[in-house]
Amino acid sequence: MLEPWSPDGQSRVILGDNLEVVRELPDASFRLIYLDPPFNTGRTQSRQSITTTRNPNGGRTGFKGLQYDTVKGTLYGYDDRFADYWEFLEPRLAEAWRLLDEKGTLYLHLDFREAHYAKVALDALFGRECFLNEIIWAYDYGARATRKWPAKHDTILVYVKNPTLYYFDNESVDREPYMAPGLVTAEKAARGKLPTDVWWHTIVSPMGREKTGYATQKPEGILRRIVQASSAPGDWVLDFFAGSGTTGAVASALERRFVLVDANPDAIAIMRGRLPAQTQFIGG
Ligand SMILES: C[S@@+](CC[C@H](N)C(=O)[O-])C[C@H]1O[C@@H](n2cnc3c(N)ncnc32)[C@H](O)[C@@H]1O
Repeated sequence: MLEPWSPDGQSRVILGDNLEVVRELPDASFRLIYLDPPFNTGRTQSRQSITTTRNPNGGRTGFKGLQYDTVKGTLYGYDDRFADYWEFLEPRLAEAWRLLDEKGTLYLHLDFREAHYAKVALDALFGRECFLNEIIWAYDYGARATRKWPAKHDTILVYVKNPTLYYFDNESVDREPYMAPGLVTAEKAARGKLPTDVWWHTIVSPMGREKTGYATQKPEGILRRIVQASSAPGDWVLDFFAGSGTTGAVASALERRFVLVDANPDAIAIMRGRLPAQTQFIGG
Protein backbone atom coordinates (compact mmCIF):
# COMPACT_ATOMS: atom_id res chain seq x y z
CA MET A 1 0.00 0.00 0.00
CA LEU A 2 1.46 3.34 -1.05
CA GLU A 3 1.67 6.34 1.21
CA PRO A 4 -1.03 8.98 0.64
CA TRP A 5 0.23 11.98 -1.31
CA SER A 6 2.24 14.41 0.77
CA PRO A 7 3.93 17.70 -0.21
CA ASP A 8 7.26 16.21 0.90
CA GLY A 9 6.88 13.21 -1.39
CA GLN A 10 7.83 12.50 -4.97
CA SER A 11 5.95 13.37 -8.15
CA ARG A 12 3.41 10.70 -9.03
CA VAL A 13 1.16 9.39 -11.78
CA ILE A 14 -2.08 7.65 -10.84
CA LEU A 15 -4.28 5.41 -12.99
CA GLY A 16 -7.96 5.83 -12.20
CA ASP A 17 -11.08 7.91 -12.52
CA ASN A 18 -9.91 11.39 -11.68
CA LEU A 19 -12.88 12.32 -9.51
CA GLU A 20 -12.22 9.45 -7.13
CA VAL A 21 -8.48 10.08 -7.12
CA VAL A 22 -8.52 13.82 -6.53
CA ARG A 23 -11.11 13.56 -3.75
CA GLU A 24 -8.37 11.91 -1.69
CA LEU A 25 -5.98 14.86 -2.04
CA PRO A 26 -5.88 17.48 0.74
CA ASP A 27 -7.31 21.02 0.35
CA ALA A 28 -5.16 23.85 -1.01
CA SER A 29 -2.24 21.62 -2.02
CA PHE A 30 -1.53 22.85 -5.56
CA ARG A 31 -0.24 26.12 -6.98
CA LEU A 32 -1.25 25.30 -10.55
CA ILE A 33 -3.87 23.04 -12.13
CA TYR A 34 -3.99 22.49 -15.90
CA LEU A 35 -6.96 20.54 -17.30
CA ASP A 36 -7.50 19.45 -20.89
CA PRO A 37 -10.70 17.40 -20.70
CA PRO A 38 -12.02 15.51 -23.70
CA PHE A 39 -15.26 16.97 -25.02
CA ASN A 40 -17.20 13.73 -25.29
CA THR A 41 -16.24 11.90 -22.13
CA GLY A 42 -18.84 11.30 -19.51
CA ARG A 43 -21.93 11.49 -21.64
CA THR A 44 -23.04 8.04 -20.60
CA GLN A 45 -22.00 8.15 -16.97
CA SER A 46 -22.55 11.82 -16.31
CA ARG A 47 -26.06 11.54 -14.92
CA GLN A 48 -24.77 9.54 -11.99
CA SER A 49 -22.60 12.29 -10.63
CA ILE A 50 -24.86 15.30 -10.84
CA THR A 51 -24.72 16.54 -7.28
CA THR A 52 -21.81 18.44 -5.89
CA THR A 53 -22.23 18.59 -2.15
CA ARG A 54 -21.66 22.05 -0.83
CA ASN A 55 -20.67 21.87 2.76
CA PRO A 56 -20.98 25.32 4.35
CA ASN A 57 -18.14 24.37 6.69
CA GLY A 58 -16.05 22.82 3.97
CA GLY A 59 -14.21 25.93 2.86
CA ARG A 60 -16.06 26.29 -0.45
CA THR A 61 -17.08 29.84 0.18
CA GLY A 62 -15.98 30.73 -3.36
CA PHE A 63 -19.05 29.12 -4.84
CA LYS A 64 -21.90 31.42 -5.45
CA GLY A 65 -24.74 29.14 -4.36
CA LEU A 66 -27.99 30.42 -5.74
CA GLN A 67 -26.44 32.56 -8.43
CA TYR A 68 -24.47 29.60 -9.70
CA ASP A 69 -27.51 27.33 -9.82
CA THR A 70 -29.43 29.98 -11.75
CA VAL A 71 -26.67 30.43 -14.33
CA LYS A 72 -26.30 26.68 -14.70
CA GLY A 73 -30.06 26.23 -15.14
CA THR A 74 -30.11 28.83 -17.91
CA LEU A 75 -27.19 27.24 -19.73
CA TYR A 76 -28.72 23.77 -19.44
CA GLY A 77 -32.00 25.01 -20.87
CA TYR A 78 -30.14 26.41 -23.83
CA ASP A 79 -28.12 23.37 -24.87
CA ASP A 80 -28.53 19.94 -23.33
CA ARG A 81 -25.26 18.70 -24.83
CA PHE A 82 -23.57 21.23 -22.61
CA ALA A 83 -25.63 19.95 -19.66
CA ASP A 84 -24.26 16.43 -20.14
CA TYR A 85 -20.75 17.70 -20.53
CA TRP A 86 -20.95 20.06 -17.58
CA GLU A 87 -22.41 17.41 -15.30
CA PHE A 88 -19.27 15.39 -15.94
CA LEU A 89 -16.94 18.35 -15.56
CA GLU A 90 -18.51 20.38 -12.78
CA PRO A 91 -17.70 18.12 -9.82
CA ARG A 92 -14.13 17.86 -11.15
CA LEU A 93 -13.81 21.63 -11.40
CA ALA A 94 -15.23 21.94 -7.90
CA GLU A 95 -12.41 19.67 -6.77
CA ALA A 96 -9.90 21.79 -8.71
CA TRP A 97 -11.12 24.87 -6.85
CA ARG A 98 -10.75 23.06 -3.51
CA LEU A 99 -7.25 21.83 -4.36
CA LEU A 100 -5.83 25.21 -5.44
CA ASP A 101 -3.90 27.07 -2.78
CA GLU A 102 -4.56 30.76 -2.11
CA LYS A 103 -2.06 31.81 -4.78
CA GLY A 104 -3.21 29.12 -7.21
CA THR A 105 -4.41 29.25 -10.82
CA LEU A 106 -6.57 26.97 -12.97
CA TYR A 107 -6.02 26.69 -16.72
CA LEU A 108 -8.96 24.97 -18.46
CA HIS A 109 -8.20 24.02 -22.06
CA LEU A 110 -11.29 23.83 -24.30
CA ASP A 111 -12.36 24.33 -27.87
CA PHE A 112 -14.95 26.55 -29.50
CA ARG A 113 -17.77 24.07 -28.93
CA GLU A 114 -17.79 24.55 -25.19
CA ALA A 115 -15.60 27.54 -24.31
CA HIS A 116 -18.39 30.15 -24.22
CA TYR A 117 -20.65 28.10 -21.97
CA ALA A 118 -17.76 27.12 -19.75
CA LYS A 119 -16.73 30.74 -19.27
CA VAL A 120 -20.17 31.76 -18.07
CA ALA A 121 -20.39 28.72 -15.81
CA LEU A 122 -16.87 29.28 -14.40
CA ASP A 123 -17.64 32.94 -13.73
CA ALA A 124 -20.44 31.74 -11.52
CA LEU A 125 -18.50 28.81 -10.04
CA PHE A 126 -15.23 30.60 -9.17
CA GLY A 127 -16.59 34.14 -9.04
CA ARG A 128 -16.35 36.59 -11.91
CA GLU A 129 -13.62 38.52 -10.13
CA CYS A 130 -11.47 35.38 -10.29
CA PHE A 131 -11.38 35.33 -14.11
CA LEU A 132 -7.87 36.23 -15.25
CA ASN A 133 -7.61 35.56 -18.98
CA GLU A 134 -9.04 33.89 -22.02
CA ILE A 135 -5.99 32.63 -23.89
CA ILE A 136 -6.34 31.85 -27.57
CA TRP A 137 -3.94 29.20 -28.82
CA ALA A 138 -3.85 29.69 -32.59
CA TYR A 139 -2.34 27.11 -34.93
CA ASP A 140 -2.54 26.46 -38.63
CA TYR A 141 -2.73 22.82 -39.48
CA GLY A 142 -5.06 20.20 -40.93
CA ALA A 143 -8.12 20.24 -43.14
CA ARG A 144 -9.79 23.54 -43.97
CA ALA A 145 -13.53 24.13 -44.04
CA THR A 146 -14.58 25.97 -47.19
CA ARG A 147 -18.12 27.05 -46.22
CA LYS A 148 -17.03 28.89 -43.09
CA TRP A 149 -13.81 30.23 -41.59
CA PRO A 150 -11.67 27.22 -40.72
CA ALA A 151 -11.54 26.85 -36.91
CA LYS A 152 -7.83 26.86 -35.99
CA HIS A 153 -7.68 27.78 -32.35
CA ASP A 154 -8.29 26.43 -28.85
CA THR A 155 -9.35 28.47 -25.85
CA ILE A 156 -7.69 28.26 -22.45
CA LEU A 157 -9.72 29.85 -19.65
CA VAL A 158 -7.67 31.05 -16.70
CA TYR A 159 -9.20 31.49 -13.24
CA VAL A 160 -7.45 32.23 -9.98
CA LYS A 161 -8.42 31.14 -6.50
CA ASN A 162 -7.91 34.59 -5.04
CA PRO A 163 -7.85 37.70 -7.29
CA THR A 164 -5.55 39.65 -4.98
CA LEU A 165 -3.12 36.93 -3.90
CA TYR A 166 -2.57 34.88 -7.05
CA TYR A 167 0.96 34.11 -8.28
CA PHE A 168 1.92 35.43 -11.72
CA ASP A 169 5.52 35.85 -12.87
CA ASN A 170 5.65 37.13 -16.43
CA GLU A 171 9.40 37.83 -16.16
CA SER A 172 10.08 34.08 -16.14
CA VAL A 173 8.12 33.43 -19.33
CA ASP A 174 10.03 32.76 -22.57
CA ARG A 175 9.77 35.84 -24.74
CA GLU A 176 8.78 35.84 -28.40
CA PRO A 177 9.90 37.89 -31.43
CA TYR A 178 8.20 41.22 -32.14
CA MET A 179 5.94 41.11 -35.21
CA ALA A 180 7.44 44.39 -36.39
CA PRO A 181 10.94 44.51 -34.85
CA GLY A 182 11.74 47.62 -36.90
CA LEU A 183 9.28 49.61 -34.77
CA VAL A 184 11.12 49.03 -31.46
CA THR A 185 14.69 49.68 -30.32
CA ALA A 186 17.35 47.12 -31.25
CA GLU A 187 17.70 46.28 -27.56
CA LYS A 188 13.99 45.56 -27.23
CA ALA A 189 13.94 43.58 -30.46
CA ALA A 190 16.82 41.42 -29.22
CA ARG A 191 15.07 40.77 -25.90
CA GLY A 192 11.76 39.88 -27.56
CA LYS A 193 8.31 40.70 -26.20
CA LEU A 194 6.16 39.15 -23.54
CA PRO A 195 3.43 36.97 -24.99
CA THR A 196 -0.09 38.43 -24.98
CA ASP A 197 -3.27 36.38 -24.55
CA VAL A 198 -3.00 35.17 -28.18
CA TRP A 199 -0.45 32.40 -28.54
CA TRP A 200 0.63 31.35 -32.03
CA HIS A 201 2.18 27.93 -31.65
CA THR A 202 2.41 24.90 -33.92
CA ILE A 203 0.66 21.68 -32.95
CA VAL A 204 2.86 18.75 -31.92
CA SER A 205 4.66 17.92 -35.13
CA PRO A 206 3.97 14.38 -36.39
CA MET A 207 7.72 14.13 -37.15
CA GLY A 208 9.04 16.04 -34.14
CA ARG A 209 11.03 15.08 -31.05
CA GLU A 210 8.04 15.68 -28.75
CA LYS A 211 5.66 13.27 -30.43
CA THR A 212 4.51 10.42 -28.17
CA GLY A 213 1.82 8.93 -30.41
CA TYR A 214 -0.99 9.99 -28.04
CA ALA A 215 -3.70 11.49 -30.25
CA THR A 216 -4.62 14.48 -28.08
CA GLN A 217 -1.08 15.41 -27.00
CA LYS A 218 -0.58 19.16 -26.48
CA PRO A 219 2.67 21.01 -27.29
CA GLU A 220 5.24 21.47 -24.55
CA GLY A 221 5.62 25.13 -25.62
CA ILE A 222 2.05 25.87 -24.50
CA LEU A 223 2.55 24.18 -21.13
CA ARG A 224 5.93 25.87 -20.66
CA ARG A 225 4.35 29.31 -20.65
CA ILE A 226 1.65 28.22 -18.25
CA VAL A 227 4.05 26.56 -15.82
CA GLN A 228 6.60 29.40 -16.00
CA ALA A 229 4.03 32.12 -15.34
CA SER A 230 1.84 30.50 -12.71
CA SER A 231 4.23 28.45 -10.55
CA ALA A 232 7.74 28.66 -9.13
CA PRO A 233 10.41 25.94 -8.87
CA GLY A 234 9.46 23.46 -6.13
CA ASP A 235 5.70 24.14 -6.46
CA TRP A 236 3.17 21.36 -6.95
CA VAL A 237 1.33 21.14 -10.28
CA LEU A 238 -1.75 18.98 -10.89
CA ASP A 239 -3.19 17.65 -14.16
CA PHE A 240 -5.96 15.10 -13.80
CA PHE A 241 -6.70 14.67 -17.52
CA ALA A 242 -3.03 13.97 -18.08
CA GLY A 243 -3.01 12.00 -21.36
CA SER A 244 0.58 11.67 -22.57
CA GLY A 245 1.87 13.62 -19.54
CA THR A 246 2.86 16.89 -21.22
CA THR A 247 2.23 18.79 -17.98
CA GLY A 248 4.52 16.45 -16.04
CA ALA A 249 7.27 16.55 -18.67
CA VAL A 250 7.30 20.36 -18.63
CA ALA A 251 6.87 20.64 -14.84
CA SER A 252 9.84 18.35 -14.16
CA ALA A 253 12.03 20.11 -16.74
CA LEU A 254 11.25 23.36 -14.90
CA GLU A 255 11.85 21.79 -11.47
CA ARG A 256 8.25 21.75 -10.33
CA ARG A 257 6.68 18.65 -8.79
CA PHE A 258 3.53 17.07 -10.19
CA VAL A 259 0.56 14.77 -9.70
CA LEU A 260 -0.92 13.40 -12.91
CA VAL A 261 -4.06 11.26 -13.24
CA ASP A 262 -5.52 9.44 -16.23
CA ALA A 263 -8.09 6.68 -16.58
CA ASN A 264 -6.53 5.23 -19.73
CA PRO A 265 -3.80 2.58 -19.29
CA ASP A 266 -2.33 3.58 -22.68
CA ALA A 267 -1.74 7.07 -21.35
CA ILE A 268 0.02 5.66 -18.28
CA ALA A 269 2.25 3.50 -20.50
CA ILE A 270 3.28 6.58 -22.51
CA MET A 271 3.98 8.55 -19.33
CA ARG A 272 6.22 5.75 -18.04
CA GLY A 273 8.46 6.26 -21.03
CA ARG A 274 8.30 10.06 -20.93
CA LEU A 275 8.63 11.15 -17.30
CA PRO A 276 11.71 11.08 -15.04
CA ALA A 277 12.70 7.70 -13.62
CA GLN A 278 12.02 8.72 -9.99
CA THR A 279 8.32 9.35 -10.73
CA GLN A 280 6.04 7.04 -8.71
CA PHE A 281 3.44 5.15 -10.74
CA ILE A 282 0.33 4.03 -8.87
CA GLY A 283 -1.93 1.48 -10.57
CA GLY A 284 -1.31 0.56 -14.19
C1 LIG B 1 -7.47 15.61 -24.23
S1 LIG B 1 -6.66 14.32 -23.38
C2 LIG B 1 -5.34 15.13 -22.52
C3 LIG B 1 -4.11 15.28 -23.35
C4 LIG B 1 -2.94 15.88 -22.60
N1 LIG B 1 -3.13 17.29 -22.32
C5 LIG B 1 -1.63 15.71 -23.36
O1 LIG B 1 -0.93 16.68 -23.64
O2 LIG B 1 -1.34 14.56 -23.72
C6 LIG B 1 -7.80 13.95 -22.11
C7 LIG B 1 -7.43 12.77 -21.23
O3 LIG B 1 -8.38 12.66 -20.19
C8 LIG B 1 -8.50 11.29 -19.84
N2 LIG B 1 -9.76 11.13 -19.10
C9 LIG B 1 -11.02 11.26 -19.58
N3 LIG B 1 -11.91 11.04 -18.60
C10 LIG B 1 -11.21 10.78 -17.48
C11 LIG B 1 -11.56 10.48 -16.14
N4 LIG B 1 -12.84 10.43 -15.74
N5 LIG B 1 -10.56 10.25 -15.25
C12 LIG B 1 -9.25 10.32 -15.63
N6 LIG B 1 -8.87 10.60 -16.89
C13 LIG B 1 -9.82 10.82 -17.80
C14 LIG B 1 -8.43 10.56 -21.17
O4 LIG B 1 -8.00 9.22 -20.98
C15 LIG B 1 -7.41 11.41 -21.93
O5 LIG B 1 -6.12 10.87 -21.82
